[in-house]
Amino acid sequence: ASAEDDLVLLERRDSGVAVLTLNRPKALNALSDGLMRALAEKLRQVDADSSLKAAVITGTGKAFAAGADIKEMHSREGYSDVRGENMLAHWNSVSNTRKPIVAAVGGFALGGGCELAMACDIIIASEDAKFGQPEIKLGTIPGVGGTQRLIRAVGKSKAMEWILTGEMISAQEAERAGLVSRVVPAGTVLEEAVKIAEKIASFSSPVVQLAKECVNAAEETSLAEGIRFERHLFHATWGLDDRREGFQAFSEKRQPTWKHR
Ligand code: HXC
Repeated sequence: ASAEDDLVLLERRDSGVAVLTLNRPKALNALSDGLMRALAEKLRQVDADSSLKAAVITGTGKAFAAGADIKEMHSREGYSDVRGENMLAHWNSVSNTRKPIVAAVGGFALGGGCELAMACDIIIASEDAKFGQPEIKLGTIPGVGGTQRLIRAVGKSKAMEWILTGEMISAQEAERAGLVSRVVPAGTVLEEAVKIAEKIASFSSPVVQLAKECVNAAEETSLAEGIRFERHLFHATWGLDDRREGFQAFSEKRQPTWKHR
């Protein structure tokens, strides 16, 4: 494997869960271009591998990720450089992944690290996790969805306060605000996130992916359009053997056996 490849470790578990570990602990997993390319490539492998149903993204050491790589970004001279290479464009690979992704956040999730967590589908936080969008302190603003996703997650007043002050947010406050779904004891965050991913992976994979697509549509559509979209995908589940099996198993008082697990 190349050095770039090792920046993100991919572990395939028998339960159908892929564990992706951001692995640049000396730089608090700062999200360099190389690391994000490696993450994009591994997420592509997860989507393409029919034995994998869900993924967990976590970090090594004392951070999930302390942001995009400040030193690397600083090496770009000016607007024409960053515009020309479309800096950070390949971050879309995370939200474009069709299988569900659980973020297991321990330690710092700052700037691009917080944005990466928010691009995942569920965030589980260790009690020592620290979130935040500190870009304002560097003289810039969030650049991979922070201004858009944070307001949807926590509402305007908190999103504005956090983005305009750059202050760090504790795991407990992040949970109160609805940014994370659960706070768990330090040291257990990866296994708790894997448990959730395993539960998801135990269901019919196409159905799980339809449900994810529907929930995500809510962030981009009007209510009426979203409800129409949901109705179409709900009807589409009648085209799946697994829908028939789930209903049949209920009436026969037995556990369903999913064909497309
Ligand atoms: C590059 C980083 C880094 C980053 C930490 N490091 N964060 N390198 N980019 N985002 C490096 C440090 O330079 C240092 O390298 C090593 O990691 C350890 O960090 P320390 O600062 O010594 O650790 P500590 O004192 O514990 O402080 C932790 C910290 C601090 C509070 C998280 O590292 C920090 O403030 N980091 C930057 C957080 C930030 O501003 N993130 C937003 C980035 S901008 P050396 O070589 O000295 O050991 C961003 C833009 C988003 O994300 C827009 C689009 C993505």
